[in-house]
Amino acid sequence: MRQLSIIIAILALSGIGCDIAVEQFPANEVFSLTLARTRSVPADAAKNDTNEVAVSLFGTPDEPQWPSSWFDDDTFVGLVDAENLVRAAGPVSSEEDGTHLGLFREHCVTCHGVAGDGAGPASATQNPYPRDFRHGVFKWKSTERGEKPTRDDLRSLLKHGVPGTGMPAFTLLANEDIEALVDYVIYLSVRGEFERRLMAAAVDQLGYEETAPSDEAKLTLDSGTEGQEAVHDVLNRVARDWGQAQPIDVPSTYRDLQGESLSESISRGDKIFHGPIANCVGCHGPNGNGQAVTLDYDDWAKEYSTRLGLDPKDRDAMRPFRKAGAPRPRPVQPRNLQLGVFRGGSEPETLYRRITQGIAGTPMPAVAVVEEPNGLGLTDDQIWDLVRYLRAAAVPEPRSADGEDELGEGE
Ligand code: HEC
Ligand code: HEC
Repeated sequence: MRQLSIIIAILALSGIGCDIAVEQFPANEVFSLTLARTRSVPADAAKNDTNEVAVSLFGTPDEPQWPSSWFDDDTFVGLVDAENLVRAAGPVSSEEDGTHLGLFREHCVTCHGVAGDGAGPASATQNPYPRDFRHGVFKWKSTERGEKPTRDDLRSLLKHGVPGTGMPAFTLLANEDIEALVDYVIYLSVRGEFERRLMAAAVDQLGYEETAPSDEAKLTLDSGTEGQEAVHDVLNRVARDWGQAQPIDVPSTYRDLQGESLSESISRGDKIFHGPIANCVGCHGPNGNGQAVTLDYDDWAKEYSTRLGLDPKDRDAMRPFRKAGAPRPRPVQPRNLQLGVFRGGSEPETLYRRITQGIAGTPMPAVAVVEEPNGLGLTDDQIWDLVRYLRAAAVPEPRSADGEDELGEGE
């Protein structure tokens, strides 16, 4: 019986079918390989014990659980609704009252994979790749660069999708289905980040090498040991990060301008875009046309390439990681801003946050906000000028209709 279920799990994980039972989340092989390279010790024992602990705490793709009793703080317990988890997980089906089950496998798994590793069967041809949630890093959000997204961010992401990428807008899903999927994304991300951090802690703090350490330091859920403390600490640290997510304040000084005052503002924004403080032109090219030559990668790809001193273009060097399931590293493209497609939204508030936080996981840097122009950052008014410039650059017509003369000077 046990053997049969393992065979089913292997079939399911190899992408053969999405609606049959999936017994296990696949372990994070790429991270364990990366860890072994950076620490110069084998990480298999750490990977296997971490995986065992993760199954006990988080359950399986068909029977997920939220490890409520392990959290120090009630707000961590409330991050995820355990009933929603069950609704979003498992094989696709409907109950008599019409409730949909298996939402993640129905709508998301072909791209994001069973474990949320971004390596679903339809992922390889996409650019950018579907997100690997296990890093816990998200791009299109209202919080500080290094922070998690809020529930609102995830909700709105699912409703609007990410225009210009494979990530669809789920406009037809009922609100309660969206809520269940938000819970499931948070669950997969917490689970995946817990797995990564615990594997690292096992090697760095508990003395995992070729084999597991002594009983006292071995990863376990049995109370009172060093190994159990590590499990508890890592889990609560990941949950705390999610519990702290807050949208950053945006000053309410934005005004819709018209006519000459608008073109003057756009023209100031143009100078800032091409000027030395923001140096947007360095990556986005003149007038944001996307033509600057930059060769850089996102953090997901860098982890198993440049950060290990490996060349992402070197096929031989990448082979072990590719075999372990990593996508082929591809350079990130600074956006052609004239196309008018803002993946994270084009509202002035959103663009203010984008400029002052940059885009997490990508080379796009943050610009410092300063009180007075001092050559080191931009004032709020300057940021609004830049926002008006971006919005105008993205829609060529109004720009040439009422702003060309002023813009022309600087070019
Ligand atoms: C056809 C492929 C595809 C499907 C189906 C899909 N996604 Fe995505 N998803 C993507 C891609 C591609 C990205 C990366 C977008 C980017 O980097 O800007 C992404 C990104 C995301 C992100 C990260 C956004 C951020 O701020 O960084 C989340 C969360 C997400 N998807 C959730 C889901 C959920 C939940 C579903 C199912 C309801 C789903 N996706 C279905 C392709 C897909
Ligand atoms: C080091 C290179 C770099 C610099 C400098 C840079 N960007 Fe970017 N920018 C990027 C990359 C890369 C992306 C694409 C990220 C992605 O979609 O994953 C991007 C995306 C964007 C987007 C698209 C956001 C969206 O919602 O789709 C905007 C707007 C933008 N940058 C504005 C700016 C502005 C304004 C500046 C100057 C303050 C700037 N960038 C400086 C690299 C850079």
